[in-house]
Amino acid sequence: MPRIGVLGAGFVGLTSSACLAELGNEVICCDIDEEKVEQLRQGRVELFEDRLEKLVLRNQETGRLQFSNRNQDALTGVEAVFVCLPTPLGTSGGADVSAIWDCLDAISCTLSPGSVVVMKSTIPIGLGVEIAEVLDRSSLNYVSNPEFLREGSAVADFLSPSRIVLGSNDRSVAEKVLSYFGRVECPVVFTDISSAETVKYASNAFLAMKVSFANQLSVLCAKTDSNMQDVVCGMESDDRIGRGNLTPGPGWGGSCFPKDTRALVAISRSLGHRFSMVEETIEANERHQQLISERILCSTELTNPTVGILGISFKANTNDYRESPSIRIAHQLIAAGARVSMFDPVISGEIRISDQFTLHASISPIDACEGADVVVVLTEWKEFSKLDPFSVASVVSSRRVMDLRNILNRSDWKRAGFTFVEFAK
Ligand code: UGA
Repeated sequence: MPRIGVLGAGFVGLTSSACLAELGNEVICCDIDEEKVEQLRQGRVELFEDRLEKLVLRNQETGRLQFSNRNQDALTGVEAVFVCLPTPLGTSGGADVSAIWDCLDAISCTLSPGSVVVMKSTIPIGLGVEIAEVLDRSSLNYVSNPEFLREGSAVADFLSPSRIVLGSNDRSVAEKVLSYFGRVECPVVFTDISSAETVKYASNAFLAMKVSFANQLSVLCAKTDSNMQDVVCGMESDDRIGRGNLTPGPGWGGSCFPKDTRALVAISRSLGHRFSMVEETIEANERHQQLISERILCSTELTNPTVGILGISFKANTNDYRESPSIRIAHQLIAAGARVSMFDPVISGEIRISDQFTLHASISPIDACEGADVVVVLTEWKEFSKLDPFSVASVVSSRRVMDLRNILNRSDWKRAGFTFVEFAK
């Protein structure tokens, strides 16, 4: 059984560890956060991620998955180490890769010669070639293996991937890494290191661009009385366009699209190239959210309306609200003088809206809608589509609703006396 180390027990590291163990590898996952490691040892997963806790528990029981807070343990007696460390947005707009450099010495000194370092973290294009050169001096191999895991369906994405991309200087080493993924039924793309890194950024930027395209198209559809869903259906049937990421909403957010689009722009700019389509995608997203805020504010004709927001996370099935459209829109509303309440089925406590504002998450959707002049749905949680509009009607100030995820049953809500505020019209 191959023994694999994983550095980092965040969303990518923990999902990779549990899934690699599930696929029959012996995995030792390390994180410097002692408390997190202790919780994981007890089988408790803080992340709200479908199937992940079950997989962690099951594989710990079989002994194939272990946790440690000493990085050294992920580097000793292993034939490969997967680097899953955070690379947040740095001050210059590119990725901050200090966590990677910090552990490079330990990797070079501890891993046995001939072992492989597999880079799962998203790092600037070209950095992998530099890292590979450093590792080569200690007779270590390097493979770039970008991750394509969506929050909320990360386990499914890992176990049934759309594709596996392996970038290296040595095909046989890349094939060795592929063997850790069990029986592979998806396309496998072997590339050089920089190309693999570029695939990651290009994929996220393209997906973000698709969402922004859908958001702008939906405005045109509203103005021309075209049915957006039918239009998307007609488009998606063309393989060249492809399915997915054409559902309009309050704009894209999360920990990946915003970070990776900005990094791609910064990388391009540093090379004297203006990747204008990605720049415009970022601007289009910001404009979209600004317009939504303005539409909410003018829907009530009040100077300081009360707004009940349903949904805090950046999409359903996750408790992540980093760069969430809900947070950005709430910030714009509060800054314009609105009173805002927010509810999310999996987020509670203090919510940091910006440096100046925090608010306490409401304890129920009804609580968030109490006294609202307009109710706004910003996250596509199933719970919201099942909300009883009559209960909401009994607590709001005005029966006005804006459904940016298109999940409410319009006739039920209209029957309860609600008027729908349309974004586009
Ligand atoms: C994204 C990519 O989809 C993954 O392939 C990638 O691995 C991951 O980033 C990453 O780089 O780690 P994720 O951030 O979990 O995954 O989110 P998505 O499901 O792609 O959604 C991103 C945003 O676009 C969300 O705010 C979502 O609500 C929005 N979206 C997505 C739409 O508004 N409409 C759509 O049709 C699809």
